[in-house]
Amino acid sequence: MRAAYVTEPDADDPVGAIRVADLDTPAPPPGWVSVDVRAGALNMHDIWTLRGAGRRPPGGPHVIGSDAAGVAGGRDVIVYPVLPTEPNGRTVTHAILLPDAGHGVLAERIAVPADHLVPKPANLGWDEAASLPTAWLTAYRMLFTKTAVAPGQIVLVQGAGGGVATAAIGLAAAAGATVIVTSRSPQKRERALALGAAVALDSGERTPELADIVIETVGPATFEHSMRSTRAGGAIVVCGGTSGFTASLDLPRLFAREVAVHGSTMGTLDELRALVEFVETHDVRPAVDSTVDLADIHAQAERMLAGTAFGKLCVSLT
Ligand SMILES: NC(=O)c1ccc[n+]([C@@H]2O[C@H](COP(=O)([O-])OP(=O)(O)OC[C@H]3O[C@@H](n4cnc5c(N)ncnc54)[C@H](OP(=O)(O)O)[C@@H]3O)[C@@H](O)[C@H]2O)c1
Repeated sequence: MRAAYVTEPDADDPVGAIRVADLDTPAPPPGWVSVDVRAGALNMHDIWTLRGAGRRPPGGPHVIGSDAAGVAGGRDVIVYPVLPTEPNGRTVTHAILLPDAGHGVLAERIAVPADHLVPKPANLGWDEAASLPTAWLTAYRMLFTKTAVAPGQIVLVQGAGGGVATAAIGLAAAAGATVIVTSRSPQKRERALALGAAVALDSGERTPELADIVIETVGPATFEHSMRSTRAGGAIVVCGGTSGFTASLDLPRLFAREVAVHGSTMGTLDELRALVEFVETHDVRPAVDSTVDLADIHAQAERMLAGTAFGKLCVSLT
């Protein structure tokens, strides 16, 4: 079975730590099933894994990846990557992803818990479907659970090219919100407008209107702008920090404008089902930057590190 895996993480050269070769096919334990993976997608989480940061089971090699779409028992499915599922199906307190527990998904055949499969949206290709379980699920929770995006609201999305950011643009626009994006790249700003954004600004530029909801994935490079751009009573939702993990907080704006700052991580199985339904109903398609054969995954990881991608970086396993 062909797989992308890591044996020796490398903090300085995470891309060089990726190996692609045949590994033994995993036998599903009781309650788990096999999935023949057709496509997968990369996330910053994979870069952290390759760097050796975060959770990692002992031993190895460890297949990397949280995002996969494929075929299980004759059904086209996407894989829900969060372990364990909370008993009430709602609260995700600590997102332990399949690869963190030694069950990464960027391999031709994987084993996953039988209840972690969701039907693949019929309107999406394999790479588009593989884009949903991490970045799109995260954006869905930020917009529909942590806040309640509604028609006519202003949603500001920072760092328009990222996987979560492009998902937030597509979801918020489909929900009837007016989407303002920022990006350092003129090309990405153009593409964000084509995805459904109404206004595209340079990073840090003053917004024409204050936002009801700010989708913050960039961190310190944009956080001050996020705070300046939120209306009184609005909310900033933070799911990551691509530019770093420590940001200063303008306390007078926070309390005087009663701005809410929410942390958000991944989403529940029910939210993934709701996302699939939303994507089908509104025919929203994930922006896929590019899809390459698994053998060329190094190029995708390089692109992720360089920050040049617009949308999801995918791999094909067909
Ligand atoms: N908590 C969760 O469950 C969860 C799930 C998924 C992702 N995340 C996190 O969310 C973050 C975003 O991940 P992603 O995969 O969507 O995207 P990404 O590839 O990490 O990049 C997002 C965007 O960050 C912007 N950016 C990077 N450095 C910047 C800087 N110095 N100044 C301004 N903008 C900068 C870029 O925007 P422009 O080039 O357009 O300016 C880029 O398009 C990551 O930190 C990731 O770990 C968290």
